Amino acid sequence: MNETIQLLHNHRSIRKFTSEKLTNDEVRTIVKAGQRASTSSNVMAYSVIGVTDEHLKKELRAVSGQKYVENNGYLFVICADLSRIAKLNKEKENIRKNLESTEQFIVATVDAALVTQNMVIAAESMGLGACFLGSLRNDINRVDELLQLPEYVIPLFGLAVGHPDHKPDIKPRLPFEAVFHENTYDKDKKEFVQAYDEILSDYYQKRDCNNRDDNWTNQMIKKYSVLTRMDVSAYVQKKNFNKH
Ligand SMILES: Cc1cc2nc3c(=O)[nH]c(=O)nc-3n(C[C@H](O)[C@H](O)[C@H](O)COP(=O)(O)O)c2cc1C
Repeated sequence: MNETIQLLHNHRSIRKFTSEKLTNDEVRTIVKAGQRASTSSNVMAYSVIGVTDEHLKKELRAVSGQKYVENNGYLFVICADLSRIAKLNKEKENIRKNLESTEQFIVATVDAALVTQNMVIAAESMGLGACFLGSLRNDINRVDELLQLPEYVIPLFGLAVGHPDHKPDIKPRLPFEAVFHENTYDKDKKEFVQAYDEILSDYYQKRDCNNRDDNWTNQMIKKYSVLTRMDVSAYVQKKNFNKH
């Protein structure tokens, strides 16, 4: 395994950080590494907001319910952003129609995810830890208001970065065979999910903290049985994304 592959295999989300803050140089290095991610047609349909105001961090923590939104070395909020393109000429009907399409919604959300994952890898290569924060969508309208986002800009998730203050066990993934298909989609892969249930159940029983008796099937059924963030769709459309 080369160093890069090793780094990727060593990933774990970090949810507990020391009080040490990131330096401005570290923040710039992480964001600039993020910007090197591939981006659909070079559109760069994202913006990264650095949250340094302590009151704002508290408010965002309240939205998420997760204390590491406030307690970290640095907090980023990553937005899908088509406003730069809108400013070029949104009066032109085809430009506006494109901006509001599902296609461009996918372009912007994928671009934003790629920049963020690059940021995570950069941070981890610097000895830092990170955790994505989809929990900011618990009240997406409130986050929009707090960050004063204009039209064609929506918050997708936060990213907490900092100096790790714990070292969680690495969470196993589905087996390669469960996610990899050759040429055509193989609809008959159930047994790999069963195998993963056993692996994850073992992980939850043996890991150092927060031990429990659980497996992937149970977790997913529980998760998808609760209607979640049903207000996001209307919000997204209100901001002129994904309208047709
Ligand atoms: C888009 C996205 C949103 C996430 N949101 C949260 C979150 O709000 N809170 C949290 O603790 N972890 C969050 N995570 C982290 C996942 O729970 C984590 O990546 C997953 O359980 C696998 O664990 P690992 O990253 O330690 O391997 C998020 C991950 C992604 C990719």
